[in-house]
Amino acid sequence: MDIRLDGRCALITGASQGLGLAMSVKFAAAGAKVAMVARTPGPLEAARAQAEAAGSPGAALAVVADISTAEGTEAAYQAAKAGLGKIDILVNNAGGAKALPFEEASDETWQADLDLKLFAAIRLSRLCLPDMKAQRWGRIINVLNSFARTPGPRSAPTSVSRAAGLALTKVLASELAPHNVLVNAMLTGTFKTEQIRRAAGDKPLEDWYATLAKRIPLGRVGEPEEFANLALFLVSDAGGYITGAGINTDGGQAAAP
Ligand SMILES: NC(=O)c1ccc[n+]([C@@H]2O[C@H](COP(=O)([O-])OP(=O)(O)OC[C@H]3O[C@@H](n4cnc5c(N)ncnc54)[C@H](OP(=O)(O)O)[C@@H]3O)[C@@H](O)[C@H]2O)c1
Repeated sequence: MDIRLDGRCALITGASQGLGLAMSVKFAAAGAKVAMVARTPGPLEAARAQAEAAGSPGAALAVVADISTAEGTEAAYQAAKAGLGKIDILVNNAGGAKALPFEEASDETWQADLDLKLFAAIRLSRLCLPDMKAQRWGRIINVLNSFARTPGPRSAPTSVSRAAGLALTKVLASELAPHNVLVNAMLTGTFKTEQIRRAAGDKPLEDWYATLAKRIPLGRVGEPEEFANLALFLVSDAGGYITGAGINTDGGQAAAP
């Protein structure tokens, strides 16, 4: 199946590396224009150039913004809309790996996690929805992780933010289906990104991946491009009958289906 996104414009948060970069490259290669959001200009510009090289000249726009505040989400949205003209596709992907025992998580830690992972998705969805509804076509993907369904010990605050993200996905999907705005969640497992590389510490990377792979039924850590493949399908016309779904994208790792 040749999946194309010609004429579509996407706003992707956390796009300077990892899964966000892989989705930006994949969408640009399929003909979309992408506004790529992150806080750090240097890596973001390198990522933008990579996405543009996969697409066409002008296909990728770098948007420097901190989406953990209301002002930052507004600025990101306005810059993306001014640069691309419209937003058909929103991917709420920016996140981090804050996982602590409950008694070690302060109010500040909880608030920061909720601001980045939940409120950014709420605010950006609110900003993008009027145009999506008016044109009767829109796609939103919330990138979550398997803790959304199977929270375990030492997973505060992220498991709570992710569970809320899954509920948000379902609320939005049911309210927006009459407007042909489709909203889904992708529950990640373990992928070869900076987030996972950082956790390797001093260990050789291949040894670290081999250790992680023991917990994954498919026996290997995922490639970001494999994550982007499903994202591309969901935001395309080919994914037009899927909404309100939370899809494990994890080599079989999650305990819950
Ligand atoms: N990789 C995995 O195996 C895995 C596992 C579980 C969950 N996830 C989730 O999947 C998503 C992507 O993961 P990843 O591994 O690709 O992440 P990553 O490599 O750590 O990249 C995170 C991206 O988000 C941006 N970002 C962070 N805070 C931001 C903020 N306040 N405002 C704007 N941009 C911000 C970062 O750029 P700046 O720092 O320059 O802003 C970067 O582009 C995240 O939500 C992550 O929690 C990933």
